[in-house]
Amino acid sequence: MKLCILIAAALVAVAAANQVVSTKKVICYYDSKSYVRESNARLLPPDLEPALPYCTHLVYGYAGVQPDTYKMISTNQNLDIDSAHANYRTITSFKTKYPQLKVLLAVGGDADLEDPQKYNALLESQQARTAFVNSGVVLAEQHGFDGIDLAWQFPKVKPKKIRSGWGNFWHGVKKTFKTTPVDEKESEHREGFTALVRELKAALSLKPHLELGVTILPNVNSTIYCDVPAIINFVDYVNLLAFDYFTPERNEKEADYTAPIYAPQNRHPEQNVDAAVKYWRNAGAPPTKIVVGIATYARTWKLDSDSEIAGVPPIHTDGAGEPGPYTKTEGLLSYPEVCMKLIAPPAGLRANIRKVTDPSKRFGTYAFRLPDSDGNGGIWVSYEDADTAGQKADYVKKNNLGGISIVDLSMDDFRELCTGNKYPILRAAKYRL
Ligand SMILES: *[C@@H]1O[C@H](CO)[C@@H](O)[C@H](O)[C@H]1NC(C)=O
Repeated sequence: MKLCILIAAALVAVAAANQVVSTKKVICYYDSKSYVRESNARLLPPDLEPALPYCTHLVYGYAGVQPDTYKMISTNQNLDIDSAHANYRTITSFKTKYPQLKVLLAVGGDADLEDPQKYNALLESQQARTAFVNSGVVLAEQHGFDGIDLAWQFPKVKPKKIRSGWGNFWHGVKKTFKTTPVDEKESEHREGFTALVRELKAALSLKPHLELGVTILPNVNSTIYCDVPAIINFVDYVNLLAFDYFTPERNEKEADYTAPIYAPQNRHPEQNVDAAVKYWRNAGAPPTKIVVGIATYARTWKLDSDSEIAGVPPIHTDGAGEPGPYTKTEGLLSYPEVCMKLIAPPAGLRANIRKVTDPSKRFGTYAFRLPDSDGNGGIWVSYEDADTAGQKADYVKKNNLGGISIVDLSMDDFRELCTGNKYPILRAAKYRL
């Protein structure tokens, strides 16, 4: 009898332990603008299915804010709502087949480019916030979403300036990492955001089980805009997009690791995953609410004859790398576009790019090819692969954080072009969690 009780107790303990493991979030983002791409790069809702068993959340992006009214709206009525595609309904209907899945609607996400000042203005006005909150809850509820992800478009920190000649020498000596303020009304926006989170949570709570997530977009300074103790109890998670610290748009003349876990030597001490996480933890966020974002895409730059031939970052560059065959965007490659550049080329063709891994597992992987004697064809790529995504998941596990997010599914290898698996980055990260 006693033995039975002991065994029963042990089983309960095992079940509880399993449950602890399974509560790690895997938040999968689907940016619907993938729809406009061609063939191999166009991720349509049915292509999401192989990913869904690995995701706890599917977040559909991106809704926007209507200028003037400040209502939360679909930015593509035709794709999202009208009966031809009805993406909102299609996406939330996945819950029938995957009942464990929560499906959220994200707003902002650096995808809402019309009149970007409206995000600041909204925070300054009680009336605007109310319009946003009320319309947002209705929009989410009408289409069967389980909540809202606030990927708020705050002003970004300014990139470090690259100087040449004497200036370079001088600043190199001083080693200053000072950044100029970009927002004259920082404290007003901080208070406005706290109010927005509180008000949105209150409205979502009136409906049973609607979640509220906050996503901190790349290069948004949480120290400025997030009053952690004041908002953390109102959110189900905070998703830190701790990547894109360097991009060819922000840093034309210098490439570097875009998403290191820890700061490499002589870099800005705050521009890495660990620093982003530490800010939230030290400010009082429970670790289990913190989610670490993993980008599935690469940033690319052109190398020229002035680039250091060892390829080691930070490295001199000449603007954004050439567009990839599928994504067709300067300075950007999807993971499958990178992996195809790494495969040995057919005889007679130019050597492909060379991958350089980081044995310390702290900074990430890059790959490069020097320019030829005419100065053409040079490229430098910072990217995430299955190994580095796994390292980020390890970091999350070791620090007992809440989980990971994959940003986004459309840039992972959802067509199995690299290896024998669909969504290798998502799967590798999930496996190590
Ligand atoms: C973020 O803001 C804080 C407070 O103003 C500042 O000390 C810090 O340097 C900023 N971080 C970045 C990366 O600009």
